[in-house]
Amino acid sequence: MNGRKKLYIQEVAARDGFQNEKQFIDTHDKIEFINRLSGSGYAKIEATSFTSPKAIPALKDADMVMHEIRRQPGVIYTVLVPNARGAERALACNVDEVNLVMSVSETHNRANLRMTREQSYAQLADVVGAVRGTDTAINVSLSTVFGCPMEGDIAATEVFGLMDRFAQLDVDGITLCDTTGMAYPSQVEEIARQAKTRFPQLELTMHFHNTRGMALANTLSAISVGCDRFDASLGGLGGCPYAPGASGNVCTEDLVHMLELMGYDTGIDLDAILDISGTLPGLIGHDVPSQILKAGPRLTLHPAPVQPA
Ligand code: COA
Ligand code: ZN
Repeated sequence: MNGRKKLYIQEVAARDGFQNEKQFIDTHDKIEFINRLSGSGYAKIEATSFTSPKAIPALKDADMVMHEIRRQPGVIYTVLVPNARGAERALACNVDEVNLVMSVSETHNRANLRMTREQSYAQLADVVGAVRGTDTAINVSLSTVFGCPMEGDIAATEVFGLMDRFAQLDVDGITLCDTTGMAYPSQVEEIARQAKTRFPQLELTMHFHNTRGMALANTLSAISVGCDRFDASLGGLGGCPYAPGASGNVCTEDLVHMLELMGYDTGIDLDAILDISGTLPGLIGHDVPSQILKAGPRLTLHPAPVQPA
């Protein structure tokens, strides 16, 4: 123990990031990318999603990816699962955790999952019934908690109502997702505080997107009310293809850089992840939004400009 407050960082670039890329990333490149992440200090890595290959063609190689990655002891390998078929596939790959997904917004749930919320809940409840009692952990990611790009504000009662229904199924954790960067710090403080008070038994993860530049501020707000577990995406990749206007997650290296300066223990090797992030433009064929990759850590010094004589 080093006396610093521990925060848990969960890398989602290989799922939230890669799902949104137009250019197909070669399966072996994905495997190599995840293998490199595995040695960088993450608590959890979301490696892929077991979704319909028609809905998310970018991750149609999920089975191969999960079978071929080298798993680092101590790292939890999780995968996104939208339905019973996805859960079957995930269990066949012996994942550590299934990350079940549905939306708090009816409109987004229909757009993203082609089901009503009740259909999603019923199917996910069956999955929980089948998985609970095995070695596989169960997390539930709730989308559009802080606002939906089609419906607008989402009532907090809807969020807590759904959390309560999953809590009653005895799931291990819940992730509150800001799918399109609509969350703002005071809202996050209020929702996160209530979530922690009402459901102390659940492992709570916060999942922010930086669509409107508020992801780091939202993270600090969540920390101020006791949250300690955050999804983040290397390079700042990310976005849901079925949520209009979605863009990248909070950028892992920007997040880790800030939190370590503030004295938190993220467990992450910043130099190592910057090296990996530097490979992303080559993998995806375009630049990434990361700030620290461009600017360097804050004590990256530059020679003084030469003064004209
Ligand atoms: N994995 C692989 N194939 C799947 C699947 C899964 N998890 N779920 C369904 N399929 C296949 C079915 O077997 C069927 O195949 P067929 O046409 O060869 O018979 C086909 O997809 C249609 O199945 P259906 O149950 O009618 O699904 P759908 O087309 O209504 O799609 C979802 C529903 C949930 C599977 C799809 O919308 C989805 O995968 N969404 C994920 C979106 C996402 O990941 N968004 C970003 C993250 S939030
Ligand atoms: Zn996301």
